[in-house]
Amino acid sequence: MLNQKTIEVVKSTAPILKKYGPQITKRMYEIMFYNHPEVKEKFDMSAQADGSQPARLASAIYSYASKIDDLPALKPMVERIAYRHVQTDVLPEEYSIVGSSLLQAMKDVLAEVVTDEVMVAWTEAYQALSDIFIAREYDIYEEQMSVLVR
Ligand code: HEM
Repeated sequence: MLNQKTIEVVKSTAPILKKYGPQITKRMYEIMFYNHPEVKEKFDMSAQADGSQPARLASAIYSYASKIDDLPALKPMVERIAYRHVQTDVLPEEYSIVGSSLLQAMKDVLAEVVTDEVMVAWTEAYQALSDIFIAREYDIYEEQMSVLVR
């Protein structure tokens, strides 16, 4: 569970994420593919080149920041993304790779706007969102396995 302070700080970053989100996620993929080229094969590189995947991730990050105080409202988005992740074989251990790349990208693009307080809040909030995805994706992988062995 996220504490009230974290929720408030993350929510306060929503307007800036709306504005700079695509820049941040573009930078995030640069950092991630540079440090972890092994995850590259999971991605459709044409959706990187035309900016559509960075735009989808930016939109999801913005939605999370703006609705972090109303998580049930995010359920349809979480479902869609979780199914896409399962389709592309996303693994639980890859969440820390995306997380560290995303936080570094926020620092790079937003520089001094990202105070220590914002970094701490976003670190916690990213962890909480990862936990939601990992749990949901585990269930979808299980459902798919049980259909296969039936
Ligand atoms: C909290 C963290 C994450 C968020 C918010 C997120 C968000 C998204 C979104 C919005 C999409 C597009 C879904 C659609 O097609 O409608 C997506 C797709 C995808 N995500 Fe994530 N994701 C996260 C973590 C990860 C992780 C850890 C990986 C592992 C490397 C990953 C790999 C992918 C891949 C491979 C796709 C398909 C992209 C493509 O077609 O090129 N994501 N994600």
